[in-house]
Amino acid sequence: MNWFIFLSIILVSFFQEGYCCMKIRRSVDICDCPDIRDRDDNRNEINKTELWYTEGPGCARNLSCGIHYRTFLAFNFHESEIPIPDDAADPFALIISTLEEDYDAPPGPTVNMFSYYGIICENKDWYATIYPIGIRYYGPDYNGKFVGGGGEFNGLKSRVWLFKCKNPL
Ligand SMILES: *[C@@H]1O[C@H](CO)[C@@H](O)[C@H](O)[C@H]1NC(C)=O
Ligand SMILES: *[C@@H]1O[C@H](CO)[C@@H](O)[C@H](O)[C@H]1NC(C)=O
Repeated sequence: MNWFIFLSIILVSFFQEGYCCMKIRRSVDICDCPDIRDRDDNRNEINKTELWYTEGPGCARNLSCGIHYRTFLAFNFHESEIPIPDDAADPFALIISTLEEDYDAPPGPTVNMFSYYGIICENKDWYATIYPIGIRYYGPDYNGKFVGGGGEFNGLKSRVWLFKCKNPL
């Protein structure tokens, strides 16, 4: 009986400590992840300042882009929890925002890339966790193939290698 009380006290203080320290960490408002704008696939053509980008507390980020053929994240299957398809000709794939392939179309509805793709900061790097329309990878003869349109990859992590963003109008 005495041991039980003793252990309970230890457990209670342990959880209180954990609670206290998590709160302290959260209030520091730092983000361990690099500036995602340096992964802009257009970074040599487009000035960083042209992106619709804001930073909030901690790792809160808002990168606004229009749904478009030219709005996507690119990743490498070797840096992803998604298994590489047997017929992939290349380890790189795109997390697309639309099945439309019209290069010159006006941008569609505006999304915040961070919430749209569930981008999280972990181990000092950015990972996508949501695949709203699925992914496009290169199949045999480098033909584009689409998979994951039913959301079956949601929750799996893929390191954000590059992104492309069609600015909203
Ligand atoms: C980027 O844009 C800003 C603001 O318009 C300007 O001051 C800066 O010189 C530009 N940089 C380049 C490399 O074009
Ligand atoms: C993100 O920024 C856009 C402007 O670029 C703004 O309209 C939108 O409300 C912001 N979203 C969030 C979640 O802060």
